[in-house]
Amino acid sequence: MKYNLVVADEKQLKLIDTYEAWGLSRNLTRSQYENQERNLSKTSFFKYQTQYVLIEHSKPFEILSSCETYERSCSISTATGELVNGRCFSIASVFTPPNHRGKGFASEMMKLLFNILKNKGALASNLNSDVGRLFYAKFGWKFFESKNLILPKQALLKWIKFRVELKKVTLDNLKTVLRFFNLNSIKHHKVKKNIFFVDPKESFESLEWIYLDTKFLAKVLLNLDMDHFGVFLQETGEFFLWTLEIEKKKLVVHLVNCWSQNSLKKLMVGCLDEVERLQMDVISFWNPNLEIFDDVINLGEYSDREKSLSCLAILSDDFKGDVEWVYNEKYLWV
Ligand SMILES: CC(C)(COP(=O)(O)OP(=O)(O)OC[C@H]1O[C@@H](n2cnc3c(N)ncnc32)[C@H](O)[C@@H]1OP(=O)(O)O)[C@@H](O)C(=O)NCCC(=O)NCCS
Repeated sequence: MKYNLVVADEKQLKLIDTYEAWGLSRNLTRSQYENQERNLSKTSFFKYQTQYVLIEHSKPFEILSSCETYERSCSISTATGELVNGRCFSIASVFTPPNHRGKGFASEMMKLLFNILKNKGALASNLNSDVGRLFYAKFGWKFFESKNLILPKQALLKWIKFRVELKKVTLDNLKTVLRFFNLNSIKHHKVKKNIFFVDPKESFESLEWIYLDTKFLAKVLLNLDMDHFGVFLQETGEFFLWTLEIEKKKLVVHLVNCWSQNSLKKLMVGCLDEVERLQMDVISFWNPNLEIFDDVINLGEYSDREKSLSCLAILSDDFKGDVEWVYNEKYLWV
C-alpha cells in the first residue's frame, strides 16, 4: 500500500497546521490559536487524544491529511435487555492541507482509520461532520438525524415574566452536577431497540476541555469573563449546560436534564441572564424533548440540524443490528 496512517511523532506534530480551518474561522490570530492549543493540551482530557497523520512511505514529513481521536467509554443497551460496554473513539479535526485537497487523501485516511480502530477492538466511533451527510458515510460513519431549536432572545424575554435565583454550574461543581443526570431516554425505552449512548456522567473531562476553550474565546473575542457554563436547580437536580458559538452570537445549550415545564422556565431564566450578559442573540437547543419544550417551540425555529452532523460507526463485529443513538449532541463529544 502506498500510504500509511500513523500516530504522529514529535516532528510530524509540528508540521500539522490547522490554523486556517479552526483559528482563522474563529477570528483568532495565529498566536492566540497556538496558545490555546497549548493550553488545551495540558488538560486531563488530552491524555485520551491520539493524533494521526497520513503519509507516503517515502516522504514521512509531508503530511497529506490528519485527524485526532479521543477515546472514551460507551454502551449499547440491546433490544434483548443486555448492556454491552466498550470503547468509542471520537474523531475530530479531520484536515487536509489546502495544497493537497481534492486528491482523495482524507478519504484514504478515513478508510485506514476505520480499520485501525476496528483492530483496536473498539465498539464504536463518532464524529461531527461539517461536510454534509454523505462524505463520512462512504467509510462507515453513518449520519444520524438531530433536531435543533433556535430561540431568539427577544422572544424569550417577552415569554419569561419572573426572576429566579439559580445555582451556577462551574468547573468546580460540574462533576457533582453531572451525577444528577438521568438517563431518561434509555430507561423509558420500552420498545425493543438497540440504543447506543455515552453516559454524560462520564463526560467531565471532555466538558472541562470544551468549557476552557469557550472561556478562552469569550475572553479573547468579547473581553468577557465566563465563570459558569450552566444553571442548576438544587432541589430537583435539573440543569442546563451550555457553551457558545460566538461568531453566530449563539448560546448553545448542549445538555438538558429537565423533566417539567416549570423547571424548564426557571432554567431558561438563568440561561437568558447569561445570554444578555454575553451579548448573544439566540439560544439553541439540541434535540429538545417536545413534551417539555411544547410551550416554547413556537417562539423560535425548530428544524433538522444542518451543521456538525452526528455520525456514528459501530465497529465491533460482535454487535449486529441497527442502533438508535441517544445523546448525540456535539460538545458532549468534542
Ligand atoms: C474536508 C477535507 C478534509 C477534505 O479533504 P480532501 O483530502 O480534499 O478529501 P478527498 O479528496 O478525500 O475527498 C474530497 C471530498 O470531500 C468533499 N468535500 C470537501 N469539502 C466539502 C465541504 N465543505 N462540503 C461538502 N463536501 C466537501 C468533496 O466534495 C469530495 O467529495 P467526492 O469524494 O464525492 O468528490 C478538506 O477539504 C479540509 O481539510 N477542509 C477544511 C477542514 C474541514 O472542514 N474538515 C472537515 C471537518 S468535519
